[in-house]
Amino acid sequence: MNKLLALAIFALLCVVINARPNNGAAHVVGGAQKLDVEEAEETLNFSLKQLAKGDNGPNYKVRKIHSASKQLVSGILYKINADIIDGDEEKAKNCDIKIWAQPWLENGYKVTFNCEKEDELVLAHSA
Ligand SMILES: *[C@@H]1O[C@H](CO)[C@@H](O)[C@H](O)[C@H]1NC(C)=O
Repeated sequence: MNKLLALAIFALLCVVINARPNNGAAHVVGGAQKLDVEEAEETLNFSLKQLAKGDNGPNYKVRKIHSASKQLVSGILYKINADIIDGDEEKAKNCDIKIWAQPWLENGYKVTFNCEKEDELVLAHSA
């Protein structure tokens, strides 16, 4: 399937999901939902891979996902706590990572790292 079509379908799905009626407290539209480890790791893997491709991009790898949620906010906002390995230093650090995905935009993935003993790092990449 071509990439633009896939993105268009993704954008449409977001609209449809956002438009679903509220079926009670467990399904608050726009509320955060728990994200399983597999999906969190896939999401984070993808962002880290895209960032590593960029000039001066960090070369991070996922070691362990501790917790994750996602929320529909003009796209999808992922919040993930994970240990990541910094490829340059070969040591793991614990980070709160936010990935705000708007894949239909150029540089539509905004990735914010809040890692222990480090300043906040905000980066962006495309789909
Ligand atoms: C994430 O990437 C690692 C390699 O860095 C791989 O071993 C793992 O299976 C990937 N996880 C998912 C859920 O795709």
